[in-house]
Order: sequence, then C-alpha cells, then structure tokens
Amino acid sequence: MTGTTLSPDLRTSIGALDLANPVLVASGTFAYGREMARLYDLSILGGIVSKTITELPRAGNPPPRVCETAGGMLNAIGLPNPGVDVFLREALPELRQAGCPVIVNIAGETTEGYVRLAARVAREEGVAAVELNVSCPNVSYGLDFGTAPSRVEQVVRRVKEECPFPVIAKLSPNVTDVTEIARGVEQGGGDAVSLINTIRGMAIDPRKRKPVLGNVTGGLSGPAVKPVALAMVWKTSRSVRIPVVGIGGIMTGTDVVEFLLAGASAIQIGTGNFVDPWVAPRVISELREFCIQEGIGSVRSLIGELKA
Ligand code: SIN
Repeated sequence: MTGTTLSPDLRTSIGALDLANPVLVASGTFAYGREMARLYDLSILGGIVSKTITELPRAGNPPPRVCETAGGMLNAIGLPNPGVDVFLREALPELRQAGCPVIVNIAGETTEGYVRLAARVAREEGVAAVELNVSCPNVSYGLDFGTAPSRVEQVVRRVKEECPFPVIAKLSPNVTDVTEIARGVEQGGGDAVSLINTIRGMAIDPRKRKPVLGNVTGGLSGPAVKPVALAMVWKTSRSVRIPVVGIGGIMTGTDVVEFLLAGASAIQIGTGNFVDPWVAPRVISELREFCIQEGIGSVRSLIGELKA
C-alpha cells in the first residue's frame, strides 16, 4: 500500500529486512539502547545497530578517546565492550524490548573469529541482522578485512553460512576504491553494505606539541564527512546490486533525503546522537514533513533518483 501525501509511507527495506522507516541509529553511538530508552520510545526507529561486540571483553584505547573538530568529532575508542557472553546475557534481552529491528554489530580478529561470533548471535531470538565491522581505524586488526576485496568476500561468505538473517558489511572510506570492497561483499553473498565508517584523522595540541588523542590517530565523523559519505554512497550504489545503507553526518530530514537520492535504501545516524539525543525522532518527523511538502507518497520512490 502506498501512502498519501498527507500520510507518506516511510517504509523501506534492506534486502529481506523490512523497516518501518529508513532511520536507524549507528553502532557505537547508542550503546545497547538502555540509556536512550529513558528518553523516547525506541519502537519509532527504523532500527538499532548495537555497539561492536567482540568474542572477549575489551577495555578500549587509552584516554582521551574523543575530541571535537570543525564540523565533527574524532574518536579513538578502540572497541571497548563486555564481550559476547555478557552481551547476550545482559544487553540483548533489553534490546529485544525496543520494538524495532536490532542489528548486532560484530568484529573478529580472524575470519574464524567473525564466524564464531556470528554463530553465537545466530542462535539468539530477536536479532534482525548482523553488521560486520570491517572498518574500525582504531584497533590494530580493524581494517584487515575491509581493505582487500578478497578478504571481505571470504569473511562474508563464511559468516553467511552461519546466519539465517541478513549480513551487512560496514565499510571504511580509508581505501583507494570503496566500490571494489563493496563488490567483494556482494560476491561473498552479503546482503548489504553500510558506509561510511570514520575517516582516519588526528588532532594536535600545539602548546604541548602532542596529539590530542591517546591513540594518536582516530576516526573523523559528523557533518564534516557528509559530502565524502554522499559521494561514496552514490558511487557504491551504482556499482553493486545489493542495498546500500548511508552513514555520515546525518542531522536532519533533508540529509536523509540526500542519501536516499544518492542510492541508499536506509541510513544510520551516528555522531548526531551525541549532539542531540532526540535527533532520530526529530529526523523521522522532518522526513515525513518533507514528503508531505513535496507530495511524495513513499520514501522508496526517492531511492537512487538523483538526476546526475
Ligand atoms: C571504536 O570503538 O574505536 C569506534 C568503532 C569503529 O570505528 O568502528
């Protein structure tokens, strides 16, 4: 059923995963939903992507781990998390109560590490998809799988063997050609790609003559990266047949429209959650309002419709 312009249809999908609207919240900016559930009803979201889980608990990188930059922020968090056992026992049961699709983000140090994690998650109820973090610039192995098409293809293929639900690979902009990596995901049988993760960057304290971040370098996110993300989403969506999920500096409803026009089937809000914890409900309202004003019956009619 298509919406009327007074009641636009915000539904979309990431392959087989149906979403009530295209607005998801990005891994690492929403923890496991517990704190945000005190602020608003999470069931209004298109979906939640949980903070990256690893097999064993991780403490993360030395502080300082974040700093503001012009139009954005740098983070070098280093994937701190309680490990998969605690996540499945303590965080996932609460996440399931959110009332929207839950996508579990995982990172392994080896192909077999990803496969073991995916197999654990696959045994659980209430998981809509997994997102493979093959793009973290802040840990030693973080980009091992996300910078070579053959490696990402192999890890996606092996994870797919374990998973009854969609497998999304989150891609790094820190590569020569992101479309080659996306094609590797597609060839491995991946269901979608999400992009972009952060752009490697650094900040320097000129008086101390020292890097601001404890890890020296970090990843840049926020509105500063939106043009880079739009260009990569646009190029990627023209290079693969699998859906693309857009990420990068989204703060408003019209930002979402831009990513849909560039070819994204859905989007994730990341850094925006730190600026305004209510950003996601506001963006959904603004998207609806844009559709009403422009006479758009369904957001799906916007996907890939850029006139370029
Ligand atoms: C981090 O925990 O370092 C951020 C996650 C990421 O960049 O993938």
